[in-house]
Amino acid sequence: MLGINGLSAAQADQMIENAVGVYALPLGIATNFLINNQDVLIPMVIEEPSVLAAVSNAARLFRAGGGFTTSSDEPIMIGQIQVLDLDDVYVAAGRVMAEKAALMDEVNRIGGSIVKSGGGAKDIQVRPMPNTSVGPMLIIHLLYDTRDAMGANAINTAVEHIAPQIEALTGGRVVLRILSNLTDHRKARAEGMIPASELATESLTGDQVVRAIVEAGVFAEVDPYRAATHNKGIMNGVDAVVMATGNDWRAIEAGAHAYAARSGQYTSLTRWWQDENGNLRGAIEMPLAVGIVGGATRVHPTAQIALKIMKIQSARQLAEIISAAGLAQNLAAMRALATEGIQRGHMEMHAKQIATAVGAPPELVSRIVQQMITEKNIRPERARALLDELRGTASSG
Ligand code: MEV
Repeated sequence: MLGINGLSAAQADQMIENAVGVYALPLGIATNFLINNQDVLIPMVIEEPSVLAAVSNAARLFRAGGGFTTSSDEPIMIGQIQVLDLDDVYVAAGRVMAEKAALMDEVNRIGGSIVKSGGGAKDIQVRPMPNTSVGPMLIIHLLYDTRDAMGANAINTAVEHIAPQIEALTGGRVVLRILSNLTDHRKARAEGMIPASELATESLTGDQVVRAIVEAGVFAEVDPYRAATHNKGIMNGVDAVVMATGNDWRAIEAGAHAYAARSGQYTSLTRWWQDENGNLRGAIEMPLAVGIVGGATRVHPTAQIALKIMKIQSARQLAEIISAAGLAQNLAAMRALATEGIQRGHMEMHAKQIATAVGAPPELVSRIVQQMITEKNIRPERARALLDELRGTASSG
């Protein structure tokens, strides 16, 4: 265990305004991940107990079925330009489309290193909205490949840069020029299989657990109240890696939930089914706009180490690993919920925290924890009494 926070006060001061300190969170390593036939150790930053144990356990189950297979889209972001005061949104849209190539050339002229490495403007799309409460509105989407950057700066610079040209072309008034966090051109996917035999418990057959997990998955597909919690569990895995790598987890959250609601009904980010051999299969698809250059990823020393631990070569590879972590976390939660419930595991972590808090040394923690769980009495007073007892035994014995 390293008791360092990985970020100096001077570095923090460079990152934000009015910095007064550094706020540390636990950094753990999730194990057992086999992704596209490669072993991957996944650093995770999270304050919640059980997540690391649960995700590592779930990754072990997927490993028994051959591990995760992942894929991802090109790193295309959307920059939005909002145009108002138009007589005819369709005419304005036509003018923009007619000048598409020139507009993209202008964006790429100022694109710098992203354009040099093959990124930059890839398309322009128009979305006319003739009847809004503030009049006809034309929304222009600049599709921009940000390569290994999350790309917020590049895309915001690009849309601000071409806004005057858009005004000249359309005769309208540009208001907002900003990226969209619904990065649905930049999705990552992971899927995997778990042999039914791996899921059997003392009281349930593997087949029964597979069915219960599929039923739990369908619950989240059909009910937004359950989908919110189900997706929250997915984000336990996703956000923890996003944070470990210095990426913007609010952007990822916004994109994930907007994508989950794309049909008009908020639904699950994963799908679970039983295959023809009776085994469990799961898949996730979600927008994942993460970068490996720039921003906090570049400044934060721990983020750099996190990328090294995962041997990350590209933003897409990182997004794919994150999607696998989300799928694994989802399996862990559903397996627990569909069998013994999650409280048992949580109780153990809770008891461990209490035993540690009353000063139990590592070699006595597990005995105190087991005793408190057996007695169903998980409180600091009891932990202290057990510690005293054990110490008495230790010193007299
Ligand atoms: C708790 O952080 C996450 C869960 O509620 C997720 C779920 O219900 O699927 C266990």
